[in-house]
Amino acid sequence: VLTPEVAGVIVVKCSGSGIDRQAVCDDVARLRARGEPVVLVHGGGSEIDELLGALGHEPEYYTSPSGVTSRRSTAPVVDAMTMALTGRVKPSFLRHLLACDVPAVGLTGIDGGLLRARRKPAVRAVVGGRRLSLRDELSGRITRVDGGLLRSLLRVGITPVLSPPALDEHGEVVNVNADRVAAAVAVALGARALVFLASVAGVLADVRVPASLLPVVTLGGPRVAMPGSGGMTAKLLACREALEGGVGEVRVACGENRSPVLAALAGGGTSMVLQGETASVEGVDGHG
Ligand SMILES: Nc1ncnc2c1ncn2[C@@H]1O[C@H](COP(=O)(O)OP(=O)(O)O)[C@@H](O)[C@H]1O
Ligand SMILES: [Mg+2]
Repeated sequence: VLTPEVAGVIVVKCSGSGIDRQAVCDDVARLRARGEPVVLVHGGGSEIDELLGALGHEPEYYTSPSGVTSRRSTAPVVDAMTMALTGRVKPSFLRHLLACDVPAVGLTGIDGGLLRARRKPAVRAVVGGRRLSLRDELSGRITRVDGGLLRSLLRVGITPVLSPPALDEHGEVVNVNADRVAAAVAVALGARALVFLASVAGVLADVRVPASLLPVVTLGGPRVAMPGSGGMTAKLLACREALEGGVGEVRVACGENRSPVLAALAGGGTSMVLQGETASVEGVDGHG
């Protein structure tokens, strides 16, 4: 099926774990059949940890002073991460998509220079209550997305399956947060919706209580940090970036449902909305 226009793109970001990949891909096929093109963005949390372990590295995380938790990305970690994403996670999405007759192509930010990032110079981190400066950290913040390349693929009916890493300003490979990749891609494509599928039902008022799903979270003000929230703070930042960039609908929803993307688009999970400087998500108890 040739898609003459690339309007109404839906960006779906899949967590590294707790996602029914087959079900996600079935939904991508259904949406595509309705003329709604999808860009899949993925990370690979558990697969990265597994490969790191097999290569003799302990997975490490650090928290920025503003409360965002990130994977510690030294050179061997970026290497292993790239191998896990391109060698394990991405092929599984591609296999499922091809099995439901969706032509799909796997990409990282390196392919075609698709994702450009600015390397974080000396990352400030809190480790065991002490503030440290991590000089060998190879991670960055997205500065540019080649929307033209993604649109070219979508226009001929190909579903891009995209993941970190990205290239920095010197052409070096750097890790970037997959949630923020999804947000940047959604903004670059003028996506109509961005859906984050996770191993939780959405944003929870108390992460220890699965039934405490918040149907709506209002993002506003400079702070979106949820103390102790693991990767959820980065997700909330990504949601805010997408909304501020004009993406109409942004949701965080469960990736384990039978039809996770359609269920989210039908109103499942948490709807993220933007408000002035007054509201924020502070007060959410995010012990992760
Ligand atoms: N208030 C909260 N609501 C939902 N999830 C939360 C909350 N606080 C912490 N989390 C944790 O954040 C995780 C999602 O972020 P992350 O681990 O980075 O996963 P991914 O980026 O792969 O989706 C959830 O699996 C959950 O354990
Ligand atoms: Mg994450």
